Amino acid sequence: MTDPIILSTARLVLRPWQMSDIDAPFEWAQDERFTRFLPLPRPYERGHAEEFTESRVGTDWSIGAAFAVTLEGALVGDVNARIEPVHRRAEVGYGFRPAVWGSGYATEAAGAVVGWLFEALGMEKVIARTDAANQGSWRVMERLGMEREALHRSHRVLRGERRDEVVYGLVRRDWLRESPGVNR
Ligand SMILES: CC(C)(COP(=O)(O)OP(=O)(O)OC[C@H]1O[C@@H](n2cnc3c(N)ncnc32)[C@H](O)[C@@H]1OP(=O)(O)O)[C@@H](O)C(=O)NCCC(=O)NCCS
Repeated sequence: MTDPIILSTARLVLRPWQMSDIDAPFEWAQDERFTRFLPLPRPYERGHAEEFTESRVGTDWSIGAAFAVTLEGALVGDVNARIEPVHRRAEVGYGFRPAVWGSGYATEAAGAVVGWLFEALGMEKVIARTDAANQGSWRVMERLGMEREALHRSHRVLRGERRDEVVYGLVRRDWLRESPGVNR
């Protein structure tokens, strides 16, 4: 069992979620820019935010991680990971409050989590997936050094429409090459 931890970056603190955090995801999921590529209900009710926050608070840290990302004390985003210990592989996901998009926060926060997965948890591979049209999301993956490994055509349904999905991956040896100074 991995204990929940706190990670810090130059501008952000990533800490475990608390039930009292509910107002932030409730607010940002009202914004249709946020839910554009996500299978979230519209309208997004408070009960949905409660379920989301409960799932984050209840994360089993032996097979996952869920970080509430704060900027000067304010909750601005979520970075999560699902871990497959047998394969030493993790999948990361993230979402940020639209008001803070475009400032590099998602890259900074997700980068810290990817580093933690490789360094502290000994993962051999980190992957991420998103709607093929979600350029903001796959740009974050590219900025983390991930490579596009797959385009899954007509892979899922989003509000009645069939959508393509892209899968990105980063293997340990490439991460080490790109991250001089980390513990090998
Ligand atoms: C994806 C998301 C987390 C990116 O957050 P962000 O804080 O804006 O990301 P960053 O500032 O670190 O930007 C990373 C890159 O994406 C680009 N980008 C961000 N939003 C973009 C958009 N809407 N369209 C195109 N590019 C975008 C940035 O310009 C930057 O690219 P660059 O390296 O060429 O400058 C954010 O848009 C979001 O929360 N979306 C809703 C939830 C979601 O879709 N999550 C992903 C599900 S897999």
